[in-house]
Amino acid sequence: MRSPRRAPLSRRSLLKGGLSAGIAVGMSAASWSRAYGANEKVRIASIGCGGKGWSDLLDTAASEWAQVTALCDIDDSMPHLGQAAEKFPEAERLTDWRRLLDKPQLFDAVIVSTPDHMHASPSLAAMHLGKHVQCQKPLTHTVFEARQMREAAERFKVVTQMGNQIQSHPAYRTAVKLVHDGAIGKVKEVHAWQPGAMGWRKVDDRPEGTADVPPTVHWDEWLGVAPSRPYLPEIYHPFNWRAWQDFSNGQLGDFGCHILDPVFMALELTAPRTVRASSPGVNREVWALKSLVSWEFPGTKRTAGPTVNVHWYDGEGHVPTHERLSLAADVVLPGSGSAIIGTEGTLLVPHVEMPRLAPTEKFASFEIPVQDARNHYTSWIDAIRGTDQTTSHFGYSAPLTETVLLGTIAIRHPDTLLTWNAPGFVLSGVPHAAELLTKPYRGGWMPAWV
Ligand SMILES: NC(=O)c1ccc[n+]([C@@H]2O[C@H](COP(=O)([O-])OP(=O)(O)OC[C@H]3O[C@@H](n4cnc5c(N)ncnc54)[C@H](O)[C@@H]3O)[C@@H](O)[C@H]2O)c1
Repeated sequence: MRSPRRAPLSRRSLLKGGLSAGIAVGMSAASWSRAYGANEKVRIASIGCGGKGWSDLLDTAASEWAQVTALCDIDDSMPHLGQAAEKFPEAERLTDWRRLLDKPQLFDAVIVSTPDHMHASPSLAAMHLGKHVQCQKPLTHTVFEARQMREAAERFKVVTQMGNQIQSHPAYRTAVKLVHDGAIGKVKEVHAWQPGAMGWRKVDDRPEGTADVPPTVHWDEWLGVAPSRPYLPEIYHPFNWRAWQDFSNGQLGDFGCHILDPVFMALELTAPRTVRASSPGVNREVWALKSLVSWEFPGTKRTAGPTVNVHWYDGEGHVPTHERLSLAADVVLPGSGSAIIGTEGTLLVPHVEMPRLAPTEKFASFEIPVQDARNHYTSWIDAIRGTDQTTSHFGYSAPLTETVLLGTIAIRHPDTLLTWNAPGFVLSGVPHAAELLTKPYRGGWMPAWV
């Protein structure tokens, strides 16, 4: 069954999303997208200017072809909108992205670096306006949103890039190259892990009470699509929203689109057939502190068999044993990263460090073909101007995100085999499975579905 929310975009649904009638009427990609003259710059709007948004903004603005023309953040204070406004004093300032999208003549492209629950709504609305989009990882909060992002990027022919910037780092590019070169033969199995502490998990359930909203914070805009709840300091904004199901997908959501990215790219994976998790289980509010998720994918030209299993471990200290990886006890495992086990050897892919081959003696004289870095941010600007292409465009990053988010559905339904029909968009194995692919949206913030 396709999601019940798969209603075609209409002027009415855009209006429901909060865009003004003046913009929604007669709007099309062609209305605002345009060709670039030889010396013309790409005008950038940033939504979410603090936290990761700050480096996204600076790294993108580093392009000689980028001009920052608009800044939007729900927090006026210094580390958020204040800092960005000081750096780019000419740029228009806003606190509600819906008002930014009321002014499409201001910008050509948008960077979305908000918390995860607020990726899809501004990104989809921007694509409907023909704006190019760079959006943080995981691309979306739900599987259905990820599918929508891919379809919108295709339909509106905009240039997209997900913010999994390690993909452009020599370490991950070299790992992909090694697998493609056949250094470890055909891939039999993959294990990936992120055993770091989840410092953002401050409480085990939703706290009682409320607190005064700081005068700089626009709390209703921060909540956006999510169900309303009172502001509390240190619990949600900034950064600690990662603990909460309404705003995030926990540790797998946070790191899966990084650590599984070179695996996905190296093996040329598309969509899993099944996913199963074991975890202590979760209440309806926070994410689990430990999980083991296993996906079965159809085999590819990079794999040894007709299927290939990928396993994910998170939770403090939760890593696969050397025995499970068929590695000698003296092989040092990456602190976080993955082991890609092939017919001829194992590739260890530390998160943001150069890959290593095992067994060490077998590969002692092997020369690793170190790849150059790409610039994940300025290449998006170049692609908009037609001189480069993005590598984590939504055609690639939305299926990666779908995979990761299917894992987080499995975490909420431990010890249950879920089956995924990606082309049909059908999840089975649990009651009301279709509902798990999407979520309710608060009035006034409904995304602009394609
Ligand atoms: N690629 C990476 O390495 C990396 C690293 C960290 C975070 N991230 C991603 O970046 C995003 C932001 O994470 P963070 O840790 O910076 O969060 P954060 O809460 O620290 O910062 C988010 C920023 O967005 C602003 N904001 C929040 N809601 C907004 C809204 N509706 N409209 C406009 N502005 C809004 C906040 O005020 C803040 O400035 C997340 O998707 C996260 O997964 C990626």
